[in-house]
Amino acid sequence: MQKKDELYRGKAKTVFHTDDENLLILEFRNDTSAFDGEKIEQLDRKGEVNNKFNHFIMNHLEQAGIKTQVNALISDTESVVKKLDMIPVECVVRNVAAGSLCRRLGVEEGLTLNPPTFEFFLKNDALHDPMINDYHIVSFGWATEDQINTMKSLTFKVNEVLTALFDQGDMILVDYKLEFGVDVDGNIVLGDEFTPDGCRLWDKETRNKMDKDRFRQGLGSVVETYIEVAGRLGLDLN
Ligand code: TMP
Ligand code: ASP
Repeated sequence: MQKKDELYRGKAKTVFHTDDENLLILEFRNDTSAFDGEKIEQLDRKGEVNNKFNHFIMNHLEQAGIKTQVNALISDTESVVKKLDMIPVECVVRNVAAGSLCRRLGVEEGLTLNPPTFEFFLKNDALHDPMINDYHIVSFGWATEDQINTMKSLTFKVNEVLTALFDQGDMILVDYKLEFGVDVDGNIVLGDEFTPDGCRLWDKETRNKMDKDRFRQGLGSVVETYIEVAGRLGLDLN
């Protein structure tokens, strides 16, 4: 397969066309961004670590019966993915209160949410990814009611699968963000990425942060900690 021109450059990944109109190449860069692009730094090896981590998680989800866009790893920092028509909303599930939930609702970080809660955000950096509801999504034509229900149930299915996986590695999956798209057959498919950049993971014993909060809060050892997360899941990225 041949890599063609750039389709889209995001804050941490670049998407390229290929000579197959149904396949794209996703390149994970070392760029690490927080606060809607206000803080950006290059972290050595982060592209490689996230590319391999994402491939590992997406394969695990496929094995659990969840359709994903991931097709194959083709280099340290690149993967081939199925082309999707991306839905511009972010689906967030929270098992434990952290981040913007604490700021918005004044709850203490670390409160267990039973049952887990779900939020939609609009993917729009200029507007700081505002929280939206189902009615906004339908009124603005971003997705249909059926697609909304499918995204919610898939996001919760991912929660079951990944909560168990991280628990085996003595980690708590605090919260995470997923993005979905529509494939050529009209199916809702999990796209974008699942890496420590887009979720919160705490050590079960110490509650140490093992995700992008290390970068947001200047705690250091960002990539080293991502490598440790992978290692605890049985993926050696050293
Ligand atoms: P939040 O606490 O900032 O709302 O984020 C909740 C979770 O979703 C957290 O794991 C980070 C992830 N997330 C992203 O990765 N990108 C985003 O644009 C948003 C809004 C959340
Ligand atoms: N992913 C968003 C950004 O890069 C938000 C965040 O992670 O803080 O700015």
